[in-house]
Amino acid sequence: MSSDALASLSHEGRRFAPPTELAEQANLGEEAYAQASADRESFWAKQAERLVWNQRWHRVLNWDNPPFAQWFVGGKLNASYNCVDRHVEAGQGEKVALHWVGEPEGDTRDITYAQLHADVCRAANALLDLGVTRGDRVVIYMPMIPEAVVAMLACARIGALHTVVFGGFSSEALAARIVDCRADFVITADGGYRRGTASALKPAVDGARRKAAEEGHRVKKVLVVRRTGQEVAWDDSVDTWWHEAVNHVSSVHEPEAFDSEHPLYVMYTSGTTGNPKGILHTTGGYLTAAAYTHWAIFDLKVDTDVYWCTADIGWVTGHTYLVYGPLANGATQVLFEGTPDSPEPGRWWKIIEDYKVSIFYTAPTAIRSFMKQGEAIPAKYDLSTLRVLGSVGEPINPEAYIWYRRIIGGDRAPVVDTWWQTETGSVMISPLPGVTAGKPGSAMIPIPGIEADVVSEAGESVPNGSGGYLVLTEPWPSMLRTIWGDNERFIETYWSRFRGGGVDPDRWWYFAGDGAKKDDDGHLWVLGRVDDVMNVSGHRLSTTEIESALVSHPKVAEAAVVGAKDEDTGQAIYAYVILRNEAGDGGPDILEELTDHVRGEIGPIAKPRQIMIVPELPKTRSGKIMRRLLRDVAEGSAVGDTTTLADSSIMDLISAAQTASV
Ligand code: WT7
Repeated sequence: MSSDALASLSHEGRRFAPPTELAEQANLGEEAYAQASADRESFWAKQAERLVWNQRWHRVLNWDNPPFAQWFVGGKLNASYNCVDRHVEAGQGEKVALHWVGEPEGDTRDITYAQLHADVCRAANALLDLGVTRGDRVVIYMPMIPEAVVAMLACARIGALHTVVFGGFSSEALAARIVDCRADFVITADGGYRRGTASALKPAVDGARRKAAEEGHRVKKVLVVRRTGQEVAWDDSVDTWWHEAVNHVSSVHEPEAFDSEHPLYVMYTSGTTGNPKGILHTTGGYLTAAAYTHWAIFDLKVDTDVYWCTADIGWVTGHTYLVYGPLANGATQVLFEGTPDSPEPGRWWKIIEDYKVSIFYTAPTAIRSFMKQGEAIPAKYDLSTLRVLGSVGEPINPEAYIWYRRIIGGDRAPVVDTWWQTETGSVMISPLPGVTAGKPGSAMIPIPGIEADVVSEAGESVPNGSGGYLVLTEPWPSMLRTIWGDNERFIETYWSRFRGGGVDPDRWWYFAGDGAKKDDDGHLWVLGRVDDVMNVSGHRLSTTEIESALVSHPKVAEAAVVGAKDEDTGQAIYAYVILRNEAGDGGPDILEELTDHVRGEIGPIAKPRQIMIVPELPKTRSGKIMRRLLRDVAEGSAVGDTTTLADSSIMDLISAAQTASV
């Protein structure tokens, strides 16, 4: 973020106190902060009591071998039992768990906890029949249909790890994830609906299976949900229809209690290298934090609230705040298959009106696109049931915050700006809607139970009014346990930068990769990534990953990718490419060819906004690409200091080319 933007943020003086009714009945009060800080382990142990444990833990936290944590040591539980069975046993079987809204209008289903229970048990039995056993990895590549939730819970129920891959990722990206975690099983669908048309998924799985086989990994079984009814290629030795598999089995399944540290899932996310990292989450601590944060941050009143999180299950938000948090709490929620503005721009607001949604959780990029369409659209709907609004995925700019609060929240519902990451597993920094007077653009302070700070390059806590790097200074229950198969990378990526905070080698601080500022009141403003990770519409992408994709094209010699500031998507991808000599000028369709290539290697979300063919890239004498300069060019701002470049005339060439292309 530029220093101008920083300065303008610091002048953002508006404050919004919690509404009285909310404050009076808030789930968590001001005192929780002090209680949690005074004795964090007891505080978390109390939160763990939200769950049903088959065996109680004997130790809250084992941090003897940092950064490898164990939470609720010795405890045993089943995540699926906690999300489903126990609500049925408590007499809530007839309560709606999911108001599912399909993309085609009128294609809806209400699923009660009792129905969800039967579905999860059947799916668990079907997975066992297919040969899935505890510890196996099951890749899930599905649209937003109830079976996706059922599949995740069925895996958890039998102790298999799910690895959900976002349906927008390409066959190549899917294959890379299947191979990295050596998944023997894949659950998918023939296709899903997007903007009124059926879009295929199964062919990507077939392709990924071939690609994995070429790399020596054989997928044993693929379970296919029939969603769109479109034609699919079929291999009898591998493919099984979901409906056939689940119809043949019993709806009774006795859940087994697993160790608190039994792995629950692997979720891939982008890092600073070309290979996505498999973030490992385990059971007891993760589920505790998912349930606690969902209850505290949204002030969940489980008997009356209708909750809706618009995230896709392919991202961590979909895991924690669509599956594990709300279901562990026994909430009623909306699950939506479609896109916000199809078939008409008011689709989301119509859903809020129809289902009387009271808690709504979405991303700033969506809010900004609605702002563009104007106030008249949401004004047509009754949004008066909304009482808490959440934001996640990227910094929310004050104007979007104000619009969200005023137009969607009727100037009544507080906005909670929640900062967290795939790695943290649950929200770390956020206002509490009944306690905190919110400031537009600030995630405020760590929630009770979490300790964070902003530190200098040297690892010293910065004073109020200054910026630095965001760190988490104490372990927390839903922290990632490692990177799948790569403990070294885990230590290196997150724990080495501020080890000891420059003070004490035994102090382990988690480096989040974000820059942040403490304002004069000590409130936190998260400014965005300080590494080579981009954030495009709240989706996390690595510059290196896209560079590798470009370089894998036969005509490309070298590539540099940067994320430049963008009004709508937060950041947009700009790629600078040097062609190989033998490719000449690349031919008339070179830009389209390269764009399609990136789409094929990663997926449509990684498509560059602009690709520029350049003669050279700006490099230091030691050969490091100075992306900062390319970002200046892409953002159209003055190009910064070029004195460390090996050849400073390069930037003139690139700037001229960029100007000519606009
Ligand atoms: C990165 C994590 C965890 C939810 C979805 C994204 C950015 C996330 C905020 C926020 C400012 C935010 C950070 C973070 N981010 N929430 N409220 N304010 N920045 O998960 O894909 O793991 O990305 O998203 O840069 O490091 P993710």
